[in-house]
Amino acid sequence: MNFHVLTLFPEMIENGMNTSITGRAIAKGLLTLEAVNIRDYAFNKHQKVDDYTYGGGAGMLMQAEPVYLAYEAIAERTAKKPRVVYLTPQGQVFNQAMAREMALEEDLVFLCGHYEGIDERVLEEIVTDYVSIGDYVLTGGELPAMVMMDSISRMVPGVLNNQESGETESFAGNLLEYPQYSRPEEWHGKKVPEVLMSGHHANIEKWRREQSIYRTAKRRPDLLKKADLTNKEWNYVRQLRKQWKEEEEQTK
Ligand code: ADE
Repeated sequence: MNFHVLTLFPEMIENGMNTSITGRAIAKGLLTLEAVNIRDYAFNKHQKVDDYTYGGGAGMLMQAEPVYLAYEAIAERTAKKPRVVYLTPQGQVFNQAMAREMALEEDLVFLCGHYEGIDERVLEEIVTDYVSIGDYVLTGGELPAMVMMDSISRMVPGVLNNQESGETESFAGNLLEYPQYSRPEEWHGKKVPEVLMSGHHANIEKWRREQSIYRTAKRRPDLLKKADLTNKEWNYVRQLRKQWKEEEEQTK
């Protein structure tokens, strides 16, 4: 996977990505990272990349030409016309399925905006995907780009080692992960659930599945709609909901 980032703050991208698991994957050559400074493509005296908006209004806009030239410098080196992700609160909200799907690309270009945004005409010409990382507004696209690259990296074969590998993890099958415990056996008076100490693998698996369903029903009921549950498991969910409703009515 080759990540290319169009940004006014390349050192922010490099510092963030060259750390921890993504940093290790870059050192191993499983990922490459190129942060292209859009300012290097502003061919005017002061390397200016922004200007006032036509029609008035507060704030400055990133101009089309430097963004386009920086993009071209990347696109002329990739095997095919690359996918270009523009980070914006107006985009489709990022999720695990998108991370999995984007991890199949050979090259991904991320375009990070600043100020009030970017001239619409260059977006029309180069952007293939408009993506948001959630319904809140950030000061620029760098953090969202890093969030996306982090989660996409995890889906690239070899990036996670066996221990880190995300087979049974949050969002696998649209269920949240079950609770986990390490030593000691008792901490602050709380004991590790008995079944986990039993060595009985089938029972442990059954307990974990039930905990995943319980958690998802409690914390992220919206995810359950897409989860693959058996009839028996759906009955369990209905029973939980009934129980929670009764408990809620009692506290009223
Ligand atoms: N730029 C500013 N806010 C953003 C968000 N929530 N997602 C993606 N890009 C952004």
